[in-house]
Amino acid sequence: MLETVRWITAEGNVLAGFEEGVPLLPGKLRIIDQTRLPQELVYLELDDVDEIVAAIRRLSVRGAPAIGCAAALGLAACAQHLEEKELLEKAQEIADQLAASRPTAVNLFWALERCLSHLTRCDKATAEELVREGLAILEEDIQMCRAIGSHGAPLIKEGMGVLTHCNAGALATGDFGTALSPMYVAHTAGRKFTVYSDETRPLNQGSRLTAWELQRAGIDVVTICDNMAAQVMKEGRIDLIIVGSDRIAANGDAANKIGTYGLAVLAKHHGIPFYVAAPTSTIDSSLATGDLIPIEIRDPAEVGAAEGVRVYNPAFDVTPNELISGIITEGGLHRPPYGFA
Ligand code: MRU
Repeated sequence: MLETVRWITAEGNVLAGFEEGVPLLPGKLRIIDQTRLPQELVYLELDDVDEIVAAIRRLSVRGAPAIGCAAALGLAACAQHLEEKELLEKAQEIADQLAASRPTAVNLFWALERCLSHLTRCDKATAEELVREGLAILEEDIQMCRAIGSHGAPLIKEGMGVLTHCNAGALATGDFGTALSPMYVAHTAGRKFTVYSDETRPLNQGSRLTAWELQRAGIDVVTICDNMAAQVMKEGRIDLIIVGSDRIAANGDAANKIGTYGLAVLAKHHGIPFYVAAPTSTIDSSLATGDLIPIEIRDPAEVGAAEGVRVYNPAFDVTPNELISGIITEGGLHRPPYGFA
């Protein structure tokens, strides 16, 4: 069985504190600090909501499903430090703070809503229910990754060049990832192919994270700068594109890391199939189209322009459904026209 890196680990965190018969440990969320990769693999132990919110904002933990899991487990960890009588009020405040950490990935709000439905009483059992729900969300995420992998893997044929953008892999989910999961499954089945990992400016999740995790798994990976994609497609190196998503509207329009929309336009020009892989927890059927998806605008400093130069730094874009060949969820491969209820 192929082992991927896990953004969350079991020792010393909220998971360890809740095993049957083991007394509850002081709640902690233990995560890889993804801002330090690939130079260093270091873990953070967080037990305070301000620290968890800051970790999500600076992308120490990132990727739509991982943000949802981190918020749920973070809320559970923080709730273990609350006095019984203040549980309902304070846990709601913590959830509100977590919900304000990042706006685009709907998994964050989906996960918190699930947890909040358990907040009905001010007692220890309710705090324990939050832990159980956080763990259930993480466990479902693991199953979801496996299912997306098996639905998507048949798209990857021997010898193909497969392009991906940003990081929708193990670091971004509870397990194999979304866009990268079909690659892990195809690799485990013995197929040889090359993954082209877009650098993904300005924070380089592709070159720092995707290339790092695929290389560790023994998958052939080549990093290219974002502005090389058109040339690489023209040279005939790309047969398939698979990306993740942060929020998918009811009509199939899909928000993902800035630069994804441009790739989809290029793919159409070059006749390359373009797929989005995401769990159903990323589908926001309350939004009719992608125009309604909130786009996070990040710190201009990330772009690295000269002092005083005005910078516009949207972190995501929306790919219109007509450019998407298929959407792979844990339920299967959906073909257009999309209609998510
Ligand atoms: O800003 P990030 O790094 O959180 O953006 C992540 C992405 O855009 C991913 O492609 C998306 O969240 C899917 S992760 C399975």
